[in-house]
Amino acid sequence: ALVSLRQLLDYAAENGFAVPAFNVSNMEQVQAIMQAADACDSPVIMQGSAGANNYAGEIFLRHLILAAVEQYPHIPIVMHRDHAPTPDICAQAIRSGFSSVMMDGSLLEDMKTPSSFDYNVNVTRTVVRMAHACGVSVEGEIGCLGSLEHKADAATQAPSEQPDHSRLLTDPDEAVEFVKQTQIDALAVAIGTSHGAYKFSKPPTGDVLVISRLKTLQQRLPNMHFVMHGSSSVPQDWLKIINEYGGDIPQTYGVPVAEIVEGIKYGVRKVNIDTDLRMASTGAMRRYLAQPENASELDARKTYKAARDAMQALCQARYEAFGSAGHA
Ligand code: G3H
Ligand code: 13P
Ligand code: NA
Ligand code: ZN
Repeated sequence: ALVSLRQLLDYAAENGFAVPAFNVSNMEQVQAIMQAADACDSPVIMQGSAGANNYAGEIFLRHLILAAVEQYPHIPIVMHRDHAPTPDICAQAIRSGFSSVMMDGSLLEDMKTPSSFDYNVNVTRTVVRMAHACGVSVEGEIGCLGSLEHKADAATQAPSEQPDHSRLLTDPDEAVEFVKQTQIDALAVAIGTSHGAYKFSKPPTGDVLVISRLKTLQQRLPNMHFVMHGSSSVPQDWLKIINEYGGDIPQTYGVPVAEIVEGIKYGVRKVNIDTDLRMASTGAMRRYLAQPENASELDARKTYKAARDAMQALCQARYEAFGSAGHA
């Protein structure tokens, strides 16, 4: 059944788990996410970005998720709009039936320029009023999550040096004021993560996430649900497979699952993952197509199935690690 983000995260908080929020833009991703959830009895959050709308079209995207709701009536599903840049775009998502929206007022509409605090409060508060009148939840964000404002570079290119995430931590005083003034349901926090595949150029040594900041935020906002963007783990086995079968991806590292699990102890309830699914599907398709025995295969469904199976395994691993498995 379609549920709001608030309903699901309140339940997650009561039971001490987090839910992975997977970005989707095609049928195979939706099916992988749902087959994995069904196999381990997990609730689901699927989210569509502007890029997903550009690829699939808003109507197809919505109906893919509604098909999942129809096919799996026993599984709670949140249909969420990721990083909406304006209240108008949030209104459009609400009208078309999304049960949750992210008003990302941390960046101005061009999604490059950091916004002022007052601007962010204003647009986010507007969306909360509108959304809550419709039973829809709202995620807000303050501060600058690494790399989104440089997304064109960060998402597609390797950084030349280790990014400095220390400047990007969520300010606790601002967070308290923002929540008070907007009445959002969930807050995206910056605690060391960044979007895209190129998060860290050196192997993580257990201190990627600034857990001390997260603890402070939870002490100050004990009832808030925190969202971690940029939470892909950049699986090294998939990186290796991609490069083994013709890919050329520089060495790069993500957020270790064990650190995310630590964050879940301090109020992280929604964990955004896109890059990991891209890596699993790219690796699986490259590998499938490179096999000599598949050289004369023209049934592209077999290639898509390889991608779907790989994504399914990854999703199930995340449901189990984050503790949402068994809670559908
Ligand atoms: O927030 C960023 C997500 O990874 C979406 O990326 O705009 O390429 O779909 P996208
Ligand atoms: P990743 O790029 O780490 O998968 O993060 C995705 C995300 O935060 C979408 O909002
Ligand atoms: Na931001
Ligand atoms: Zn994000």
